[in-house]
Amino acid sequence: MERAVAAGKIRSLGLSNWYIEELESFLPQVETVPALVQNEIHPYYQERDVVPYIQGLGIVTEGWYPLGGRGYNAELLADPELASIAHAHDVSVPQVILRWNRQRNIVVIPGSSNPEHIAEDLDIHGFSLTHEEMARIAALDRAEKHDWY
Ligand SMILES: NC(=O)c1ccc[n+]([C@@H]2O[C@H](COP(=O)([O-])OP(=O)(O)OC[C@H]3O[C@@H](n4cnc5c(N)ncnc54)[C@H](OP(=O)(O)O)[C@@H]3O)[C@@H](O)[C@H]2O)c1
Repeated sequence: MERAVAAGKIRSLGLSNWYIEELESFLPQVETVPALVQNEIHPYYQERDVVPYIQGLGIVTEGWYPLGGRGYNAELLADPELASIAHAHDVSVPQVILRWNRQRNIVVIPGSSNPEHIAEDLDIHGFSLTHEEMARIAALDRAEKHDWY
């Protein structure tokens, strides 16, 4: 892949589903620091050790399954703590989750086939979560991975 960058065939390199141990072993073997690492991240699986490690290397963190994942998100989107935070800002639970990622400097790629959901998921810049609300969401972490790739 580094040769493909040097040849101008691709612009930058990223990784998906890489964690601290794997990165510690991999990075010394390459010359190009990956631009981005994409891992599963949502309030029930927060990667609170991995995210700062990746960001500390100057690598962008991106979260897949930000809303818990297609077919796996009923409980997350009905979470009472998230619903209470959403109610306080007059926004939806998906918007709270996406904003929480934004405030952790995590790029998100929510999936939707519903135009209203897509518009809603993009509209997360008109409110901010407080430190207390960020802490309440942090407390929801239960290391519950929804898929393996
Ligand atoms: N690198 C990897 O290993 C990996 C693994 C898995 C997934 N991914 C990527 O992650 C991305 C997201 O995956 P995903 O779409 O399965 O998970 P997701 O974004 O967590 O969840 C999508 C689900 O949330 C619903 N949704 C979206 N916005 C909503 C809203 N505002 N209100 C209510 N429901 C809403 C969608 O339903 P509607 O369609 O009805 O809106 C869909 O059922 C994709 O690009 C996928 O390729 C990467």
